[in-house]
Amino acid sequence: MSFENLAVVTRGGIHTITIKRPAKLNALNRQTLQELYAAVIDASGDDKVRVIVLTGAGDKAFVAGADISEIREQSPLEARSFSQFGQNLMSMIQSLDKPVIAAINGYALGGGMELALACHLRVASTTARLGLPEVKLGIMPGFGGTQRLVRLAGSTLALELALGGEPITAERAYELGLVNRVVAADELENAVQALAKPLVAAAPEAVRGILQATLQGAEINLEAGLALETARFALCCATEDMQEGTSAFLDKRPAEFKGR
Ligand code: COA
Repeated sequence: MSFENLAVVTRGGIHTITIKRPAKLNALNRQTLQELYAAVIDASGDDKVRVIVLTGAGDKAFVAGADISEIREQSPLEARSFSQFGQNLMSMIQSLDKPVIAAINGYALGGGMELALACHLRVASTTARLGLPEVKLGIMPGFGGTQRLVRLAGSTLALELALGGEPITAERAYELGLVNRVVAADELENAVQALAKPLVAAAPEAVRGILQATLQGAEINLEAGLALETARFALCCATEDMQEGTSAFLDKRPAEFKGR
């Protein structure tokens, strides 16, 4: 698959999708959103891909938001479908059964922050700035930002960021639990690889179960969440990988999972 606004590469089970509109700070226009949807679906169906990494081209921005010049020209009905498409993309990413890591290499604003929040893990460079500045444009987040941030960090922070519109530093995002790691810009790739490699080597059914039980479980009541956990736990126990993982532990050797 080839794209105008994305670069994609798979290496050692890690599939990196780079959003590539650096002259516009990787802003998400409709075409880029559509390409991203196709690229993620493609990677999700590829057995060689075990982890997906999303990042932005250049050293300034991850994604500086939805494309403001396109937003300006939209009719209300087009704006509704733009918001729904963006939401569908973010929800599809969050519900993937492969881990998705955001490598936040600069500005993650508006749709960029919403994209990062839809990923399962986030690594930020010290140069990153995260925020929801839509209010300054007379609009509001439309790709799930009001919903995911409040779930992740509570309404105190979600309302401060969305109402104030001011971005926060990567260090502050780390203190608030919004990102998993903060590293120097030239260490970002290494840090992402260090996070991704154990996930490539892990038993896929265990990874799928953890993602689903954790994320879907958080949206349902505890009893239903625990039932989901039990079902996924039992499924893990039906795999050859469970036999391998437990045997390897007892034999005092590293496990070699086969995805079966
Ligand atoms: N949509 C469309 N174009 C954007 C954009 C966006 N979200 N963010 C940046 N750009 C464009 C700028 O218009 C500029 O294009 P130009 O060179 O053709 O004029 C180019 O990217 C570089 O941006 P610029 O503003 O000159 O860089 P800066 O370093 O001075 O400021 C930001 C960087 C991120 C602070 C600033 O670009 C910004 O505030 N962007 C908008 C963020 C936002 O509101 N996002 C939510 C959108 S809903």
